[in-house]
Amino acid sequence: MNLYQQIVRPVLFATADPEWLHGQLMASLRYVSRQRSVSPPNFVAGAIASQLEAQFCFRDERLVQRLWGLDFPNPLGLAAGFDKNGEVGQLWGALGFGFAELGTVTWHPQPGNPPPRLFRLVEDQAALNRMGFNNCGAMVMAENLTQVRSPQLPKIPIGVNLGKSKVTPLDDAMGDYRDSFGALQALGDYFVVNVSSPNTPGLRSLQAPERLEQILKTLMDMNADAKPILVKIAPDLETTEIRAILDIALGLKLGGVIATNTTISREGLKTQRLAKTGTSIQEEAGGISGAPLKSRSTQVIHEIWHYTEGKLPIIGTGGVASADDAWEKITAGASLLEVYTGWIYQGPAMPKQILAGLVAKLEQQGLSHLSQAVGLAHRG
Ligand SMILES: Cc1cc2nc3c(=O)[nH]c(=O)nc-3n(C[C@H](O)[C@H](O)[C@H](O)COP(=O)(O)O)c2cc1C
Repeated sequence: MNLYQQIVRPVLFATADPEWLHGQLMASLRYVSRQRSVSPPNFVAGAIASQLEAQFCFRDERLVQRLWGLDFPNPLGLAAGFDKNGEVGQLWGALGFGFAELGTVTWHPQPGNPPPRLFRLVEDQAALNRMGFNNCGAMVMAENLTQVRSPQLPKIPIGVNLGKSKVTPLDDAMGDYRDSFGALQALGDYFVVNVSSPNTPGLRSLQAPERLEQILKTLMDMNADAKPILVKIAPDLETTEIRAILDIALGLKLGGVIATNTTISREGLKTQRLAKTGTSIQEEAGGISGAPLKSRSTQVIHEIWHYTEGKLPIIGTGGVASADDAWEKITAGASLLEVYTGWIYQGPAMPKQILAGLVAKLEQQGLSHLSQAVGLAHRG
């Protein structure tokens, strides 16, 4: 247990609403990121960014992953949903992340669902959210990304996660993804078609093969710079449904798959009722993230690797909180990982701890680079 887990987290969790706290953190990071990017850079913001880097970054050549022609300084990224408008950008690298996936952004700005919409399930080391893609829209994200570019910060790849606006009918979803991709194409290093959030009515039905293929094909046809395009899937799909998506991904030569988004399952949760609403967890809408999602998302990674014979890069996300969790997903087949909920519970030292733990695992296994561990569980 470190200082964050012993003192800071109990105080914050006891006193602060999760969405309010997220807003405060984002405001601070946004300030540092913007001030760091002005010319000449603000001295104080520069000093803060350097301090963060010194405290939270862990570098080791054995962890540098090269994928789609991009260098990821380490395999642990920030998952989508934290920096929905792309306000912090490269500064996530100073917090120890090897990349950051921004968004979900939609073509139309939208407020998301009414609060309360984010809940901690502390007994389960989990969260329930039904944010509903609250974001400022693709054009504002494009402005933000242009503003917060900074040559002084450690360079990390930036992913952009695209969703459908609530006002857009499902039958017109393709137009939304197309317009957002058009606005942001030049500003992201990889792109994610999110059809797996449980919090936009009907969104997950876009995982159906005909609809998904139409969206993905449209983006691939526009993709003049050949940026990697990935699809993010739900953990609640049946094996046959996952395989149908993989067939499309392989057929269209997508960049890869992100496994997985939050789950609508409530199985195995210790939390029975949300204290804030007094309602049974079964009746509360939203997706569960964190520890309860861990084994299902790892199972999905195994399935993807097995079905595609390791040919499709996988970004694994769901319940990663330790080096053991990270290793499990990497050996199941994930080339990269993303975290959200675990970072909230473990605190800012988490990336460094996980990365140091991964290096120790490589040494134990006699491996000289992380890429040799990807899919290791499948090699008898
Ligand atoms: C509050 C919150 C908001 C999220 N918003 C998004 C989102 O906008 N788009 C998305 O693709 N995933 C979103 N996610 C899902 C995460 O990106 C991730 O797939 C999921 O939480 C599993 O990872 P974790 O267990 O490390 O949190 C969100 C998760 C949380 C907890």
